[in-house]
Amino acid sequence: KNKYIPFVPIKMEHRAWPDHQITHPPVWCSVDLRDGNQALVDPMNVEEKLELFHTLVDIGVKEIEVGFPSASETEYEFLQALIDGHHIPDDVTIQMLVQARPHLIRKTFEAMEGAKNVILHFYNSTSTLQRKVVFHSDMDGIIQIAVDAAKLIRELSEPVIRGGTNLRYQYSPESFMGTEMDNAVLICQRVLEELGATPENKVILNLPSTVENCMPNYFADEIEYFIEHLPSRDCAIISLHPHNDRGEGVATAEMGLLAGAERMEATLFGNGERTGNVDMVTLAMNMYTQGVNPGLDFSNINQIRSVYERVTKMKVGERQPYVGELVFTAFSGSHQDAINKGVQYMRESNSTLWEVPYLPIDPSDVGRQYEPIIRINSQSGKGGAAFVMQANFGYDIPKAMQPEFGQIVQVETDRVGTELKPERIYELFRDAYIDI
Ligand code: KIV
Ligand code: ZN
Repeated sequence: KNKYIPFVPIKMEHRAWPDHQITHPPVWCSVDLRDGNQALVDPMNVEEKLELFHTLVDIGVKEIEVGFPSASETEYEFLQALIDGHHIPDDVTIQMLVQARPHLIRKTFEAMEGAKNVILHFYNSTSTLQRKVVFHSDMDGIIQIAVDAAKLIRELSEPVIRGGTNLRYQYSPESFMGTEMDNAVLICQRVLEELGATPENKVILNLPSTVENCMPNYFADEIEYFIEHLPSRDCAIISLHPHNDRGEGVATAEMGLLAGAERMEATLFGNGERTGNVDMVTLAMNMYTQGVNPGLDFSNINQIRSVYERVTKMKVGERQPYVGELVFTAFSGSHQDAINKGVQYMRESNSTLWEVPYLPIDPSDVGRQYEPIIRINSQSGKGGAAFVMQANFGYDIPKAMQPEFGQIVQVETDRVGTELKPERIYELFRDAYIDI
């Protein structure tokens, strides 16, 4: 039973609202071990990468970019450890990134030996800015780089496929967001042709923002245009790789999905270059709270966070959606009161929907507790203290008694100047009403 329903404000019901909803999840691809790892001050060692890999598998991610094996020995070794140590479940595909450069492509083919399911992900940059200041090349030169790489990849693939590897291809026109859309279509179409893409053997076209430099609706227009104008659209899976430079990564991803994208590259808690990649947790949980099963399991978010913090040596923010230390708390009295009433309403009405104000999600869905929702400080009202007594100690304080007890708690919070833990509230209650 789904306790969350799509958000439909009354005044918008007359519109074709369901046309503008995300109704199913994308294919998820984690780039934690590559984009995420390359952005760490202190990159993960092989053991740490293995632990994160297993965490991603447990969450249910089926496509995992495991690194850039031609870039360094550590990356290469990790891949060997993964493959030789039989760490990859049969239903999980590992993805390897490589620049569209012949010697790196050759090395990547060596690295994939023994792997069962592989996505070979190659890229070159296509934006007007990169063409001008980095490559000093016109679009024909940029297309040639991608086409030559595609040709070589196809050549090198034959023995690998014969050897039993299920090999698929992914091409990224890096900095897609800053590329003229007709050029993006042109280069991707040439790559599809060179790789022999068919509707049965689709190639993933991964469209990265690389550096987020426009509003989410603009990006959605780009995706829509790209999809409409790509001649071999039926031979491609449209994937997105949003970054978060303007703090709009999640919105960009959601708009991109509405525009027709089918796959999403993301990282846990938004780790990645600069301001990070799009946050897989927020994106997935946003779908969940709109009644769409994201196909990922975040029911034990604290455990996932603790692995993440250990291996990345970074902290998840206290207000990070769905997971931060403070996101299931309410300090203000009116919020506490409303939460209290919501919980009571659900209990009394046997509601199967989640109908608690100020809490967009049932904390227990991500393995968090009801208990810490209400914390008492000088901003809390009378309902908060009563709720703590009920939730933590099973005391139903009569309505008539609540103002007086609220006042006792208020005096104490003013005196100590900090938040009160449930145990202290119990002591105040005991001292006032039980011990006398
Ligand atoms: O952000 C980016 O463009 C990338 C590519 C390599 C896909 O990480
Ligand atoms: Zn990236």
